[in-house]
Amino acid sequence: MMAGANRANALRTRFLFWLVLLLSPYSSASGFDLNDQCPPSFALSSDNQCQLRNLYQLYDSLQGQGLGGLKTALPHHRDGFSPQQIDLGRLLFFDPVLSGNKDLSCANCHNPAKGFSDGMARSVGASGQLHPRSAPTLWNSAFLKSLLWDARADSLEQQALGPLFSELEMANTPEQLMANLNQVDAYPELFTQAFPNSEDAMVIANITTALTAFQSSLISLNSPYDRYAHGDSKALNPEQLEGLNVFRSFVARCSQCHTPPLFTNQQVAVIGTPEPEGMPRDIGAQATFGAERLRGGFKVPTLRNIALTAPYMHSGRFATLREATEFYTKGRGHAVPEGEELLLHWHISEPNLTPSELDRLVDFMGALSDESFMPEIPQQVPSGLLH
Ligand code: HEC
Ligand code: HEC
Repeated sequence: MMAGANRANALRTRFLFWLVLLLSPYSSASGFDLNDQCPPSFALSSDNQCQLRNLYQLYDSLQGQGLGGLKTALPHHRDGFSPQQIDLGRLLFFDPVLSGNKDLSCANCHNPAKGFSDGMARSVGASGQLHPRSAPTLWNSAFLKSLLWDARADSLEQQALGPLFSELEMANTPEQLMANLNQVDAYPELFTQAFPNSEDAMVIANITTALTAFQSSLISLNSPYDRYAHGDSKALNPEQLEGLNVFRSFVARCSQCHTPPLFTNQQVAVIGTPEPEGMPRDIGAQATFGAERLRGGFKVPTLRNIALTAPYMHSGRFATLREATEFYTKGRGHAVPEGEELLLHWHISEPNLTPSELDRLVDFMGALSDESFMPEIPQQVPSGLLH
């Protein structure tokens, strides 16, 4: 009798021992532990920072010094975050707990399955209002010197404060945001793991740092175009290659603004795209810089993963890549309404591209897709609010 009970006890202890051993590397008491390894393409330094490693770092011809030949170096990248900060940022990015009504996460509008955009011409915010603009991709955003269509944010940290507290996006307040996070058991511990040197780790500045850290890991530089640039002459098919040649020709002039390897020269340009039916002119960068000559000017967007992020332009006016490309050949200023004065950029010309040249440009832009470093999409987030 006693021996039987002892054996049952011993078995139970052994079972519990193995269960704990089995689960312990994967989960803390809260069920969430932060990754201590860097995402792919980052190397972990001895002081626990993730440093970007990429073939473009071997090239020294700088963007801005030429027109973006194949071996042009990349601009500066925001790296140097710890693996834990990147991983906390990943959980926050997908967690609707960041929004006022706990219903909308960053990923709702920057959906990984849609090139980190949302597939809509204009985004819909937490209270159902239509945003005046379209959600841009977040791939490679850590290379950008200025953010948003009108270039009004200088850093990812500054940018993140926008959606969190904007009525048109996540409609939260700083007090409500901290109250929401404090209600989730796991977050205080996760913030301490990610920011071990902060006395008070769960604060707004660390939320934006973690979101920035996560976004800095969204690297897309392994497309067929990149393999071609690094020397694999078969990486582009004949149609794509023809498209590349049109793209960088002085007739089409695409690469003057969409300069490789990021496919943006990071400047603001007035090109005169049409507004949606019935919408007033979006003055864009004029408001940011207080400069009349920038009326209707927008930041030149990257074309990386562009085939995944339809519809196109600041207000999603064009449904397909072919339509967006056709815009450039319909004549300088053709979409600017009468009586409207825009100072169009001198590279917007009358290239008279043929239908087959337009098709080849679209083929080429399709060669800029690469999602090989897609981050792991969490099945559940610390708040349990993912649905
Ligand atoms: C309601 C939809 C929505 C939500 C939610 C949202 N965004 Fe955005 N995001 C947008 C739109 C629309 C823009 C463009 C706004 C503009 O240019 O004025 C944008 C722009 C950006 C940009 C600038 C990219 C570039 O290339 O200039 C970044 C970075 C960004 N969002 C990150 C985030 C983060 C981080 C969150 C969560 C804290 C978030 N967004 C939540 C819709 C959204
Ligand atoms: C003078 C600079 C300039 C030139 C030249 C130029 N672009 Fe653009 N491109 C822009 C700007 C600025 C935008 C954003 C405009 C807007 O949203 O209204 C843009 C937007 C785009 C978009 C939509 C991107 C998105 O995320 O929605 C595509 C596609 C595009 N350009 C392709 C091309 C092609 C193809 C060519 C050559 C035929 C070209 N561009 C030439 C500046 C330029």
